[in-house]
Amino acid sequence: MVQEFNKVGVVGLGTMGAGIVEVFARAGFHVTGVEIDTSALERGQNHVQTSLERAVSKGKLTAEEQGAIMGRIAFSSTREDLGDADFVVEAVPERMDIKRDVFTDLDSICPPGTILATNTSSLSVTEIAALTRRQEQVVGLHFFNPAPVMKLAEVVGTVNTAPGTLEVVTEVAKRIGKTPVTVTDRAGFVANALLVPYLNHAASVYERGIASREEIDTAITKAAEFPMGPLTLLDMVGLDVSLAVMEVLWEEFRQPRYVPSPLLRRMVSAGLLGRKSGRGFYDYS
Ligand code: CAA
Repeated sequence: MVQEFNKVGVVGLGTMGAGIVEVFARAGFHVTGVEIDTSALERGQNHVQTSLERAVSKGKLTAEEQGAIMGRIAFSSTREDLGDADFVVEAVPERMDIKRDVFTDLDSICPPGTILATNTSSLSVTEIAALTRRQEQVVGLHFFNPAPVMKLAEVVGTVNTAPGTLEVVTEVAKRIGKTPVTVTDRAGFVANALLVPYLNHAASVYERGIASREEIDTAITKAAEFPMGPLTLLDMVGLDVSLAVMEVLWEEFRQPRYVPSPLLRRMVSAGLLGRKSGRGFYDYS
């Protein structure tokens, strides 16, 4: 069934969307990346191009392979270009009004057989699926940042997702080199329900002045051999994205361990979102 996927669509070309386009194209799929904001479209295109060029300069890809991968990617600013897609992954910002706009559009643009996936990390897949008339064919396919590198893909089913849809998406996840885990639609799924409270806790440790940001990060990288310390990782993931996950965990479970750190909240209000805004716990300007 997977081999029948002639065309994959990715909607939203931010860091995650651009990474997802790259992952599919490298695995041999024809991908159309759609971004309606033209400057974001250009940034997304550059993101993919730069990532592939880095792989070539490191000798991980040949120039021919890079050309072939780029040849499988089309960029567009119109969702109608996904009218013949077999599978679409949505990776737009984490706001239900934006998801609603995308999913109602995709539901009318794409043929009945097209599977629609959301890369959401903080919204309910069930609620997103309910925006469509094809709830059996809607899943979460949750990638991790940086998408081309991190091996995990959470395949999230709702009460209405057809078992066949989960099977196909699990198979697709394997085809693109990911290790899929199937999870139920609950706040944080599995990975973020464990990881984000840890990141949030690191923000609290910093806020209480227990150690400097560098010392907190060094403590974890050297104690546990994590590739990045928690404050560096918060900056990479985005403080806004992390706060959104904390908020849904708190909303859903109401347990003290899920209370967002006041510092995290204030930093997000101040626009200190991490790498993408030029400043978070560290300065990137
Ligand atoms: N895009 C593509 N490739 C990238 C990349 C990017 N943004 N960043 C790094 N890479 C590649 C590099 O090209 C390199 O590839 P090769 O091994 O083939 O040469 C490899 O990743 C290692 O990169 P570097 O040597 O430059 O740097 P590093 O060794 O410090 O690794 C890292 C960088 C992969 C980001 C590593 O630090 C890491 O794994 N960090 C933890 C990331 C993590 O925990 N992510 C999960 C976040 S949670 C989340 O995303 C979920 C959510 O919903 C909030």
